[in-house]
Amino acid sequence: MGRPSAPRPPAVPDQKTAADLMAVLPMTAEVKDGHLWIGGLDTVALAAEAGTAVYAMDEATIRHQLQEYVRWTTYHWPHVDVVYAGKAFMSVTMCKLVAEEGCCLDVSSGGELAFALRAGFPMERIYVHGNNKTPSELIECLEAGVGRIVVDSFEEMERLSALAVERGLTQDILLRVTPGVEADTHDFIMTGAEDSKFGFGRNQGLAMQAVKRAIELPGIEFQGLHMHIGSQIFALHSFAKAIEVIVEFMREIKDETGVEVRLLDTGGGLGIAYGLPDEPSTIQDYGKVVVDGIKAECERWGLSVPRMAVEPGRSIVANAGVTLYTVGSIKEIANIRTYVAVDGGMSDNIRTSLYDAHYEALLANKADQPRVMVATVAGKHCESGDIVVNDAPLQCPEVGDILCVCATGAYCQSMSSNYNKQVRPGVVFIRDGSWRWVVRRETYDDLMKCEED
Ligand code: LLP
Repeated sequence: MGRPSAPRPPAVPDQKTAADLMAVLPMTAEVKDGHLWIGGLDTVALAAEAGTAVYAMDEATIRHQLQEYVRWTTYHWPHVDVVYAGKAFMSVTMCKLVAEEGCCLDVSSGGELAFALRAGFPMERIYVHGNNKTPSELIECLEAGVGRIVVDSFEEMERLSALAVERGLTQDILLRVTPGVEADTHDFIMTGAEDSKFGFGRNQGLAMQAVKRAIELPGIEFQGLHMHIGSQIFALHSFAKAIEVIVEFMREIKDETGVEVRLLDTGGGLGIAYGLPDEPSTIQDYGKVVVDGIKAECERWGLSVPRMAVEPGRSIVANAGVTLYTVGSIKEIANIRTYVAVDGGMSDNIRTSLYDAHYEALLANKADQPRVMVATVAGKHCESGDIVVNDAPLQCPEVGDILCVCATGAYCQSMSSNYNKQVRPGVVFIRDGSWRWVVRRETYDDLMKCEED
């Protein structure tokens, strides 16, 4: 899932300034008066006003990414849903923004659905995911009138059918299929199937059995198929391979049942640049490979081209976001390393310890200075693995500096925790030189709101 993107060369003081880091920063980033600016706002001033740690996200970048997906998918075929994967970063404001851009929303729990409902998100544009939706989550989905539920198991299919029939409803569904293609960052692996907790494998005819059952069950309407081959994918041919496999399965479905797939959802997964060596594919190229690929495969087998859906998460929000911290202490351990400790850590970014993820760091108040040293950015938690960035080229740090970790817009806030009863940072959206809280910083009262005395 969160594999490091590209092989990492040994870290050296690379003399780079923030101006050299634009590939991993929001599109509005610039260096002015020696500071890092985002969206026309000085991030050092933002840190002073909003406090640290704080997640700062550039609204222009988020909207631009959504628009790019719409543009370069519908360029090849008009009937494509761009479905933002809310697990990457979700807030009520984010849901509203996705709605304003005309996109759909992937929710993967009742909690995420509750956010969409509170945002007034159009329910017909919701895709529901999850490999074990509880009966109450299924009821919440039916009662909300969600557009489509991606069914993941036989049990869930039976359960959903019964719940829909009880309510006199018919729910559109997709079936999640495991194509037996798993994407690695730079390549794909044919797994032959199927060691996955997700979806229906094609071995032993399970996926075909699921399709047949879905067609006959009352209360559900089989619309088509879903797949998701991985995340942080650089190699577009991984998508192309999986598309070949799934469209061939569409042909088998037509041959065996006479039913044509009306909606094909190829999931998310496009990689982004976390570090300078990373060179992800563009959304434009992705759109061509996926949408043209599906069209070509359908033509090959004489199938009608279905409506399509893509489900990007990371590539919408990752580079839109940075985390701003204040440097609190600096420990230079002679001949070993220098630790720069910040006022956050694994509670606001678990990806470093969980996946060995790598990030670029810079000092926002010294953005025009070269990164003259290598330091390890450590958090404030009681755990030696609490590292935010391992071996980061950095400007010369001093206590009180504002340390910016780049490309933290995806899967950081959404995977954050209250370890050590740390309050979670707030999230600000920046637009046209001003900022607003979209999620305020937690307080100690928030930490205790579920406590019983
Ligand atoms: N659709 C489905 C069904 C998914 O499971 C996911 C991500 C996406 C779409 C969005 O994929 P994306 O475009 O963001 O790659 N926590 C990990 C990532 C887990 C991704 C899980 N599924 C990380 O921090 O790298």
